[in-house]
Amino acid sequence: MSVLNTRFTQLFGVEHPVVQGGMQWVGRAELAAAVSEAGGLGLITALTQPTPADLAKEIQKARKLTDKPFGVNLTILPTITPPPYDEYRRVIVDEGITIVETAGSNPEPHLELFRSHGVKVLHKCTSVRHALKAQRIGVDAVSIDGFECAGHPGEDDIPGLVLIPAAADKLTIPFIASGGFGDARGLVAALALGADGINMGSRFMCTVESPIDQVVKQAIVDADERDTELIFRPLRNTARVAKNSVSVEVVRILNEGGQFADVQHLVAGARGRTVYENGDVEAGIWSVGMVQGIIHDIPTAGDLVRRIVNEAAEIIRGRLTSLVAPVGVAS
Ligand SMILES: Cc1cc2nc3c(=O)[nH]c(=O)nc-3n(C[C@H](O)[C@H](O)[C@H](O)COP(=O)(O)O)c2cc1C
Repeated sequence: MSVLNTRFTQLFGVEHPVVQGGMQWVGRAELAAAVSEAGGLGLITALTQPTPADLAKEIQKARKLTDKPFGVNLTILPTITPPPYDEYRRVIVDEGITIVETAGSNPEPHLELFRSHGVKVLHKCTSVRHALKAQRIGVDAVSIDGFECAGHPGEDDIPGLVLIPAAADKLTIPFIASGGFGDARGLVAALALGADGINMGSRFMCTVESPIDQVVKQAIVDADERDTELIFRPLRNTARVAKNSVSVEVVRILNEGGQFADVQHLVAGARGRTVYENGDVEAGIWSVGMVQGIIHDIPTAGDLVRRIVNEAAEIIRGRLTSLVAPVGVAS
């Protein structure tokens, strides 16, 4: 039973308006399945799998863990040597996935195949204009990341408090709010601002099923909202990551006029990956958002989803309702 029934839950056929966004090295079968099993929408991150065949195996693994709908995140990176997107896409369709989160850049080249196989597309972007473009080219729903988010917030620096209602004023398709959400208060706020649900990354990193070292989870619990850095600003490819000696050094070098080549050794993906695998939070660059300031525990993903929706309903029925004068009371 849906505690909160929105256009998002109806469109995607899920119980709760809570999505676990794509996360490189984190969005694996166990986490996605746990979120979906609890009634949210879990997403396996396609490019975490080294090959399309590995993605097929990961999807099959998740399917053994839940028979509820889960999706796949396909991050479209502007790289010189792109991964074989057409093959990843084919696997998504052949494995019977019905929901895809696209992100990174324009999803248009991917839409035809997905649409022709009845796959619903949730496109994640960071501005109202990109959301409107996605709506125009026919995605089913959008997810809009505010400036608070982990990963790439774009270059406009508009926090969710303005970005979400600005999107609500213009979009006609369902959309969810992303970036800075971690608890029931955020979900209620997102709904009040006009969104149909929330997407969370950092909060789901800090769950039992998240496949990262316990030391990293504890570091997130211990950190506060100021403990992130924005790297690559001068290159106009901003990413919000954990504040550590490596990210501070990257910011320093680029602010002093350095180029990508000068920081390449520091930002290598392989170094970031070792953070998650070995729990050395100083080993490289790793993604986390400002929301870590309100992450205080490491529950199971299922308990987290249930807690968020149940407490959201309590806030709406309790505190918010109690603030409203009975109908007919004149001002
Ligand atoms: C560790 C980590 C890795 C991420 N990797 C990706 C990714 O590969 N593709 C993507 O579209 N978003 C990625 N994101 C962004 C999330 O999907 C989501 O949009 C973001 O975390 C929302 O902000 P929040 O962390 O404040 O909840 C990542 C986020 C985190 C925390």
